[in-house]
Amino acid sequence: MTENNEAIFEQAVAVLRANDRGSYTVPTEGLYPFQWNWDSCLTALGQSHYDEQRAWIEIETLFAHQWPDGMVPHIVFHVESDGYFPGPKVWSTNRPVPTSGITQPPVAGFAIKRLFERARNRPLAERYARSLLAKVDAWHHWFYANRDPHGDGLVAILHPWESGRDNSVDWDAALARVPTDGVEPYVRRDTQHADPAHRPTQAQYDRYLWLVQRFRGLGWNNNLLHDASPFRVVDPGFNAILIRSAADLADVAEALGEHRIATDNRARAAAGRTALETLWSESHQQYLCFDRATGEVIGNASIGGLLPIFAGLDVSRAAELGRTIAAQMAAVRYGVASENPADPRFEAKRYWRGPTWLVTNYMLTDGLRMAGQQETARAIIDASLDLIRRSSFAEYYDPRSGEPCGGTQFSWTAAMVIEFLAGAS
Ligand code: GLC
Repeated sequence: MTENNEAIFEQAVAVLRANDRGSYTVPTEGLYPFQWNWDSCLTALGQSHYDEQRAWIEIETLFAHQWPDGMVPHIVFHVESDGYFPGPKVWSTNRPVPTSGITQPPVAGFAIKRLFERARNRPLAERYARSLLAKVDAWHHWFYANRDPHGDGLVAILHPWESGRDNSVDWDAALARVPTDGVEPYVRRDTQHADPAHRPTQAQYDRYLWLVQRFRGLGWNNNLLHDASPFRVVDPGFNAILIRSAADLADVAEALGEHRIATDNRARAAAGRTALETLWSESHQQYLCFDRATGEVIGNASIGGLLPIFAGLDVSRAAELGRTIAAQMAAVRYGVASENPADPRFEAKRYWRGPTWLVTNYMLTDGLRMAGQQETARAIIDASLDLIRRSSFAEYYDPRSGEPCGGTQFSWTAAMVIEFLAGAS
């Protein structure tokens, strides 16, 4: 490593240590004072480079709050804090430690395989991996049972927040159909921590809350939510992550002699890959979202449709998608933008409607490398590290100017930098 990269590595470790709350890591101080699901799993990857046990604990803590039905919530409210809205009272999920009632992209299976493979402490890794296997398997089972109740092979998200890409253009049409009547009065906190122009709009927020109230009214009974939700969208990115996690969990299960878990997860990954192809768009040369409530394809080119490279695709499809990713990289100085910059709805600084995020860059580079497309992967890693040198560990970045946006000293951004610098992806 060059001296400059060594310094960046150390700064990234310092960010993770500063956000470390002992058994979980907050995404950033202030804006996000609790544990977030996919943030934690990706943060653990960074931690594993300097403290393997701490990395396992991060994931163990998340799964300690898994619901009895198998769902792993998107937020665990470990402490009280009025700095975040909507807090435990709004969710009212009736859990021993309060949690939200929706989930997030299931990267756990992928993260566990990474930690397991690279572990220097083998007995420790085997112990933790063994104790997590059945839990992650139960989560995967939960997805197909509750979010694919009609057996399409693809799971739906029922709330934009589940996608991890909160205000993406992908959700606009489906969200517009969500009513706003009866939304209880509320005060947003996010806009007090970050520039409102970089955050979701008020109209979107009202609908986010209407959905939460609707699900709460159904007692968070996951058997009911899917068919009762006016928002039911199949996101290729989300499904790609689930497919990859199922495939990776199967590998770890195999290595540990857990054959039932291995077989079930291999079958899920295989069925998922086949079903994913129904979302491929010849004209866009990428995957598109599908609105399950209306039966319509959502004609928008977001990063969600590029992420399937992470699922592991056949050679010709990976080549096509790789070309689209490379073209999108070439369109801006600091890619990969979360929305196609050529789209009139692209907004360079508004969250998931244009900005570049290092977590999606990480998953894209991993998939590109799997497909042997080293050059595009390298370009994405270089752009990511340039962003850090220019703008430090921000939540996300303007893909044209490289300006930092949202929160600062961000955990998963730091974790991805550690991964990039350690050559892990
Ligand atoms: C935002 C992001 C989501 C992330 C969370 C915490 O809601 O959209 O993906 O998990 O912040 O960082």
